[in-house]
Amino acid sequence: MKILSGTSNQKLSKDIAKQLKLKLVNTNIKRFADGEIYIEINENIRGNSVFVVQSTSNPANDNLMELLLVIDALKRSSAKNITAVIPYYGYARQDRKVAPRTSISAKVVANLLTNAGASRVVTVDLHAGQIQGFFDMPVDNLFTTPLFAKYIKKKLKSKKLICVSPDVGGVQRTRGLATRIKADLAIIDKRRPRAGQSKVMNIIGDVKGKTCIIVDDIIDSGGTIVNAVAALKKAGAVDVYVFITHAVLSGAAVDKIKESKIKKLIITDTIDNSKKIKNNIKIEVLSISSLMAEAIKRIANSNSVSDLFN
Ligand code: R5P
Repeated sequence: MKILSGTSNQKLSKDIAKQLKLKLVNTNIKRFADGEIYIEINENIRGNSVFVVQSTSNPANDNLMELLLVIDALKRSSAKNITAVIPYYGYARQDRKVAPRTSISAKVVANLLTNAGASRVVTVDLHAGQIQGFFDMPVDNLFTTPLFAKYIKKKLKSKKLICVSPDVGGVQRTRGLATRIKADLAIIDKRRPRAGQSKVMNIIGDVKGKTCIIVDDIIDSGGTIVNAVAALKKAGAVDVYVFITHAVLSGAAVDKIKESKIKKLIITDTIDNSKKIKNNIKIEVLSISSLMAEAIKRIANSNSVSDLFN
């Protein structure tokens, strides 16, 4: 078994490899002057099970292409099987036709990974679970709920808690966390007047006098969360903590968070944000490296992955 890192999140890859007591595969990944990607694998991987760690975060197209070329290089080097470990699976939000004549990007990415030669995918908190069905190969979707629940039990247990889903699509995820920490559930009725804009219509549930825990898979522009926090505070919430798996944090998101009434934003390291959030006391990062390393170990040993979440 070998672990190979793309360039999108090398810190996470190193942490995973360290926990597995492995060295990362020696590679040469570089860009030609015109931006094309060159991949060379500097060691024999014939007959090995290789796990390639690469988030398809910003720059999404470059990181995706790099992942595809690494998989192709491994296939042509006679790896026994190739697992694409994609902590953040980009392009997942276009998972169905939302309007006539639009594309389903999550399916296109699945086809690309399949055709490049991946034999399995491991990812974290897929935007929509049904994306697994876009692949005709095993997809292990790992969950951050236990990680978030552990943090909440340790740091916020004395408070009167309520878990809040920032939109109807996130109810299942939020209910999972609420059940684990034995808290109530509230739901925000969010509308998107147009792409990239969000509006809170209603809050379903009583948040008055309570500490709210918002949980979501992605924070991108920050609009959904900042509006949700403002609405919850207006409805009488004491404090609002926000737990997000994939911190895309595009544009002015970090500034928006700084200026908002969020008590704390807790994110994971599926995307490397170390430069963006440096010295930001409102944002805390929980590492998913142990979870990923344990899942990889179990896959390599043909043990259950779902047992990790029971
Ligand atoms: C939407 O369904 C996702 O779960 C997130 O709520 C959304 O992507 C967040 O985007 P933004 O931060 O730009 O509002």
